[in-house]
Amino acid sequence: MLCVAGTRPEAIKMGPVILALKNETWANVRVLATAQHRGLLDQVLRIFEVEPDIDLDIMRPNQALPALTARLLLSIEDVLEAEKPDVVLAQGDTTTVMTIALACFYHKVPFGHVEAGLRTGDMAKPFPEEMNRVVTGRLTKWHFAPTESARQNLLKEGIENRDIFVTGNTVIDALLSAAERKIPLPFRLDPDRRLILVTAHRRENFGEPFREICRAILALAERNEDVQVVYPLHPNPNVCEVASQILGDHPRITLCEPLDYLPFVEVMKHAYLILSDSGGVQEEAPALGKPVLVLRRETERPEAVQEGVVRLVGPDFDEITSTAQHLLDDKMVYAEMARGVSPYGDGKAAGRIAAVLRDHFAACV
Ligand code: UD1
Ligand code: UDP
Repeated sequence: MLCVAGTRPEAIKMGPVILALKNETWANVRVLATAQHRGLLDQVLRIFEVEPDIDLDIMRPNQALPALTARLLLSIEDVLEAEKPDVVLAQGDTTTVMTIALACFYHKVPFGHVEAGLRTGDMAKPFPEEMNRVVTGRLTKWHFAPTESARQNLLKEGIENRDIFVTGNTVIDALLSAAERKIPLPFRLDPDRRLILVTAHRRENFGEPFREICRAILALAERNEDVQVVYPLHPNPNVCEVASQILGDHPRITLCEPLDYLPFVEVMKHAYLILSDSGGVQEEAPALGKPVLVLRRETERPEAVQEGVVRLVGPDFDEITSTAQHLLDDKMVYAEMARGVSPYGDGKAAGRIAAVLRDHFAACV
């Protein structure tokens, strides 16, 4: 079987699956790194001690979607020809996942989709991920849905119930094991200041929406002497150049390189509040009891919003600053959002995925 990872979140969420499958005596697990991300992917694979068997080294600076898709499809084609896997597994909604699912369809190789069934219902948001999910869903044999609402989304699209397995999200497996490995903070945090942690990278926010997000972060730092901001910048030039321009000079704003996963989890544990447009962070932060303001208008992860521990504020200056200020000023409102709930998993998702495949494949060995 072939397990695939292309970007940072795929490695974080496939890491537990790869480790669980490597423990299965019936499974011959091979790992394909497309390296749609280079540095970000490598640091996560190292943490899981996963050495790719095949590495396509696809990433180019500031890569455009058509060329990325074409490079991936052609390279994956060669891998499937050479490896002839009985099953391919990949996670999420990146270009890597959509192209591997398509290549599997062309080669008649059964495809298992980890984190299946997430939908916003708007093809343009997130872009291009919603399209990637919908296409991948049509090409999948085993749909490993993280939640009941993801299962419902798949049923609405006509997927058979017998092909859907609600497993929880493997990000919680990764998070729980990372959170118990006590490691030092990557830099000193002022114990007398409250930490706002920021991450942002969505393509649909590039340009003016992203500038507005940065201006809101600056305003929050300026208005609150007791606040410090840490913002590990995504290496996409559309993100890091703008953020450095607007936020680079403030003494209580730390812009840094992307953090390795373990130090990032450690910083999340110290955060008072998180502002993010990341999918993974929306899933992890509630489990750590950290309120998240999502810098988007919609989410494919409604569970934590319904629980009241995540709020959508959009890339909107007034909404970001007023909601964050409310949480900084009102301890009761803050406590309600910092309850600590884990609607996305219990840390055992990878074992459930391995068990489904065991039931299918062990019988054939
Ligand atoms: C990609 C995914 C997105 C996912 C995100 C996770 C697509 C279309 N987008 O977005 O769904 O949420 O990853 O972070 O699949 N770069 C580096 N080093 C790295 C990684 C990226 O320099 O290790 C820079 C490169 O210039 C690269 C650019 O970032 O060309 C964009 O990378 P890309 O994977 O195309 O898009 P992301 O915005 O990272
Ligand atoms: N993350 C990390 N270092 C950072 C920022 C994020 O390790 O500096 C982790 C985070 O804990 C989460 C994942 O990266 O598990 C999310 O990745 P990203 O936001 O790039 O992608 P998305 O989840 O939005 O697809």
